[in-house]
This record gives sequence, structure tokens and C-alpha cells, in this order.
Amino acid sequence: MGIYILGIESSCDDTSAAVIHNRKILANYIANQSVHKDFGGVVPELASRAHQQNIIPVIDKALCTAKISKNELHAIAFTNGPGLMGSLLVGASFAKTFSLALGIPLIEVNHMHAHILALFIEGQSFEQPPQFPFICLTVSGGHTQLMLVKDYFEMELIGQTIDDAAGEAFDKAAKIMGLPYPGGPLIDQYAALGNPKAFSFPHPNIPGLDFSFSGLKTSFLYFLRDQLKKNPDFIAQNTNDLCASIQSMIVEVLLRKLRMAIKETGIKRVAIAGGVSANSGLRNAVAKLEESDGCKVYIPKMEYCTDNAAMIAIAGFFKYQNSQFAHHAITPFAKFQKK
Ligand code: KG4
Ligand code: ZN
Repeated sequence: MGIYILGIESSCDDTSAAVIHNRKILANYIANQSVHKDFGGVVPELASRAHQQNIIPVIDKALCTAKISKNELHAIAFTNGPGLMGSLLVGASFAKTFSLALGIPLIEVNHMHAHILALFIEGQSFEQPPQFPFICLTVSGGHTQLMLVKDYFEMELIGQTIDDAAGEAFDKAAKIMGLPYPGGPLIDQYAALGNPKAFSFPHPNIPGLDFSFSGLKTSFLYFLRDQLKKNPDFIAQNTNDLCASIQSMIVEVLLRKLRMAIKETGIKRVAIAGGVSANSGLRNAVAKLEESDGCKVYIPKMEYCTDNAAMIAIAGFFKYQNSQFAHHAITPFAKFQKK
């Protein structure tokens, strides 16, 4: 018969609901919020209002697509953090109420762990899910983490950004060029047509496995400011090359630390996760580690890279098997927590 779990994700600006049957996704529905477009970033208050409007239709749609009734669900899994507090509260309140009404367990999920556990969803491009332990580079709009994944529930943070996240670096570079939010996917698109060696920027010099992206952003800003003084059309005339160059710099920074982590731990099973793992430059560079470094590489399916509830549902499935249920008095957390 198997286990059916409803996953709910509302940590930032995407309202998402998914239904999983064991490790197989039956439905994964996402409502994006267009209200933020004019503001160049996510406006927290608008995000929570939009979640309020979207959450019931999105869950309804997921259950309909999965062709199961709410009474067949075994548990409700939801993102408890990290994220925007107002946004998290919408998903958490709904999940609690629904689990109480249905009389089924509530499961809290850490958003960053869920990005990694998405690799265990059935139907990926690799035949077998990663074996433990493996190293995961989790790169999103709010976090950049090197995680030593020992088990579904035990993950050791071995490196992280000391300032901006990789996704933030993409989005800020895009904003400097006048591209709309979120700029990461647009940079990826334009980069495919440009020369990654056209412009270069200084590499951050951060010891150990930590990252820094704020210097890169600043040098990009100053470089463009100087060029625009000489030629006001500089950005328009060089968009593809600028995107290709900044993307290749960000990917280089990420790869350098990933390689360092492989060397330090001696672990040659490597994965990427999070929104920025959708980036074609990063996907290609990481895929090459198979040949160059003899690694086994795990790259998630595109639909499981950016925020989605399928990853919350799979994390919920593993917690359900382990009877890790949450109390209804649990409250969301905004900043990353290890557990
Ligand atoms: O994981 P995610 O959906 O949300 C957070 O948890 O933050 O990641 C969103 C981030 C944004 O910064 C977005 O610009 C970036 O992922 N992103 C990309 C691409 N697709 C999404 N960055 C570069 N290239 C992409 N193709
Ligand atoms: Zn995310």
C-alpha cells in the first residue's frame, strides 16, 4: 500500500504542495508570486499575503493531480525554516490545522536539508541515489553550504558563506545590469551566448571551506560604473559576455571549495542542490568532476532544484519511517539551524 505524504513549502516566495507515495512524486504544484517583480526582490509582507491566497488552491490542485483524497494521507510535512517568518507561518499554520483535522502526524522539515534529500526522489538521471557519506554543495538564494551528508538526518556543515549566498550573487549582479528579479536564471540564459573569459574579476581569498561573494559583487559594480562613464551603452552591448563572465567566476569560486572539500574529506561522492544547482554552468562544471577527479556526481532533476514541496514531502517520508513527528506547539525559525 505504501505511505502517502503531503508536503507544504512556503519559506520564501513560492507556495508549493506535493504528494509523495513512498519515494515517488505523484504531484508537485508550485504557485510563483509575481507581485515582487516591480520591487527587485522579495517583499516579505507581500509574500505572506500571497501565500495566504495560494495555499488552499495549491494543496487542492496537488491532491487532485495525485488522485488521492485527503483521508488517504498518512502525514503532513511542512517547511519549518529557515525562511521569511511571515511566509513560514502561513505554511506551518495550515499544516498544523490540517494534521489536527485529519488526525494524522505533523512532520517539520528543515528547508536546507530538504534541498539535499530531493536527490532521493525517484526518477532522477542517476540510477541509484547517493550512498552515505557524500558531500553536497547546497546553493540557494539565501544559503551557500558545503554539507557532509552522513545519513538522511545527520548532516555536518563543513563550509558556508560568510556574506552573500551564491544565488544572491547572481541576483545582485543581474540587478546591477538592470535585469529583473530573480536574475539568476536570466544570467544563465544570456551566459550561454557569451564569452566567459571576456572580463575577469578578483577571486575572494577566504581560508578553509568557507565562501565569500560580496567582494565579487562590489568589483562587478565598480567595473560597470567605470565602463559606463566611457560608454553609456556598455551593458547593452556586452550583456552576454558580462553574464558569461560573472557566471564563470561564481562557478569557479564554488568549484574551488568543492574540490577542497573532496580533498580534505577523501569522499568522492559529490552532489549539488538548491536553486543555483539549476545553473547550467555549475551543472556542467560539477559533471566534469567525474572525469577529472574520479568522483561519482549527483545532479538533481531541474524541477527539484529551485524551491518545491516535493523535497519537503521526501524529507517527510524519511522522517515518517523514523517516527520523527512534531508537536503542534512547534514554531518556525528564520535562520538556519543544524537540526
Ligand atoms: O533554492 P531557491 O529556489 O530558493 C531559496 O531557498 O533561496 O534558490 C533561489 C535562487 C535565486 O537566487 C535564483 O536566482 C537562483 O536560485 N537560481 C539560479 C538559476 N535558477 C535559480 N541561479 C543561476 N542560474 C540559474 N539557472
Ligand atoms: Zn530553497
